[in-house]
Amino acid sequence: MLKTLLVTAVMFSTLNAEYSKPVKVPSITYPLEYDKNFRVMQRNCQWCHSFGYITNQGKQSQEFWRASVVKMRDVYKAPITKADEEAIVEYLFKHYGNGKVK
Ligand code: HEC
Repeated sequence: MLKTLLVTAVMFSTLNAEYSKPVKVPSITYPLEYDKNFRVMQRNCQWCHSFGYITNQGKQSQEFWRASVVKMRDVYKAPITKADEEAIVEYLFKHYGNGKVK
């Protein structure tokens, strides 16, 4: 009985803690360079996180971008095909690369 009362009290106490005023959430967009591989980027990289994760890395080597794409596939289980992997690495290195392979 006491348990039920406690659970009920906790449930209702959180209702009182709700914020009643409207909250304005800022909308931030992170545009990527546009080229023939842009759609491949949209299809593979935008459904888990924003493009900000990409642009915030700064200019990086080809090896860095390859490792990022492989990490997204192997660790986070993004279903990236081999053909798309090639297009993505080419795209990232072309627009966000530092000119170095390694
Ligand atoms: C299945 C979901 C998923 C997809 C699809 C995905 N990512 Fe990620 N990505 C993540 C997660 C989870 C993190 C780590 C978030 C954190 O640590 O806050 C991340 C982080 C990153 C980072 C930040 C650096 C790092 O290694 O943590 C980069 C760069 C990145 N992703 C690039 C990409 C690119 C490029 C693609 C498209 C090929 C992609 N992501 C697609 C889930 C995904």
